[in-house]
Amino acid sequence: LLLLAGCQNNQSYPTDYEQLSEDERLVIRFSHVVGEDTPKGTAARKFAELVKKYSNGYIEVQVFANGTLYKDSEELEALMRGDIQMIAPATSKLTHLVPEISVLDLPYAFRSLEEVHDYLQSEVGQELTEKLQKHNLYSVGIWDSGFKQLSNNINPIYTFSDLKGLNMRIMPSDILYKQFEIAGANSKKIDFNTVFNELKKGSIDGQENTLSNISSKNLYSLQHYLTISDHGYLGYLLLFNYEFWNSLSPDVQAILVSALQEVQQWEWDLVNELNIQKQEEIEQCECVEIYTLPEEEKKRWEKAFDPVYDFYKMRYPDRYIKALPKFS
Ligand code: LMR
Repeated sequence: LLLLAGCQNNQSYPTDYEQLSEDERLVIRFSHVVGEDTPKGTAARKFAELVKKYSNGYIEVQVFANGTLYKDSEELEALMRGDIQMIAPATSKLTHLVPEISVLDLPYAFRSLEEVHDYLQSEVGQELTEKLQKHNLYSVGIWDSGFKQLSNNINPIYTFSDLKGLNMRIMPSDILYKQFEIAGANSKKIDFNTVFNELKKGSIDGQENTLSNISSKNLYSLQHYLTISDHGYLGYLLLFNYEFWNSLSPDVQAILVSALQEVQQWEWDLVNELNIQKQEEIEQCECVEIYTLPEEEKKRWEKAFDPVYDFYKMRYPDRYIKALPKFS
């Protein structure tokens, strides 16, 4: 993903940055919608720290968490307009621009996060992310949130048929819509930052998300049942406004790339541990019944989701599916 050369030199930057005024610094505004204690929240702060260090304070990344600057449904437009310079949206939220990217939403498409990274770095993966450039978006990396789990307050989900009739919140992706439709459930596309309220109001029964998101937004406190299903990937493309990126000098780009490479590896190493820790925290509340789907059951679900793959194949070139590790 990060094809540019690493940081070569930063000698053209003032070392005495404390004396620079705001106007003399290069400010990059990075907006996101999740909590500070999530993989994305932590990685965004680390990225800001590293960039400051490597540029001797010349580049300042201002991170706005929890959707405080722009809401979930607003941040992409704000980036495309150039009101902010960077976001890291879930890949599902890019599928209205590049629908082929919804290959990443297919249930049980990947068995590990490494498989996702390899896929995105392959020729096919690069082709997908490059399609964003015509929307003035430049992808410079991938951060994971992890695999999604299912929570609801109607009935425990042990088998595929237990999904039937549930009203579930989804991110805006037609593949996610299809996934629940195939299972006989209903789904609603809802902004991340309003999921808690919608669960509270009862307009939805449940939702799918990673444990760090479920925990950091206290979603589990409103849910009776949680199934560890690992049924789909949730991760982020690190995006710059492309015009802004092109306006940067090669040495500024090199500093950013170098920091991004370092943070990306750090984030990948952190994510599994953080999700395990979040599961322990959820278990401790003793407020939600947790069930882990056995491997044989996951296989049955994977098979039951076959029609979602057919739906994708009918619309988009099947090379994106063929290149998935489980088929290649
Ligand atoms: C969601 O909407 O559930 C996630 O995309 C939030 C996030 O950015 O992790």
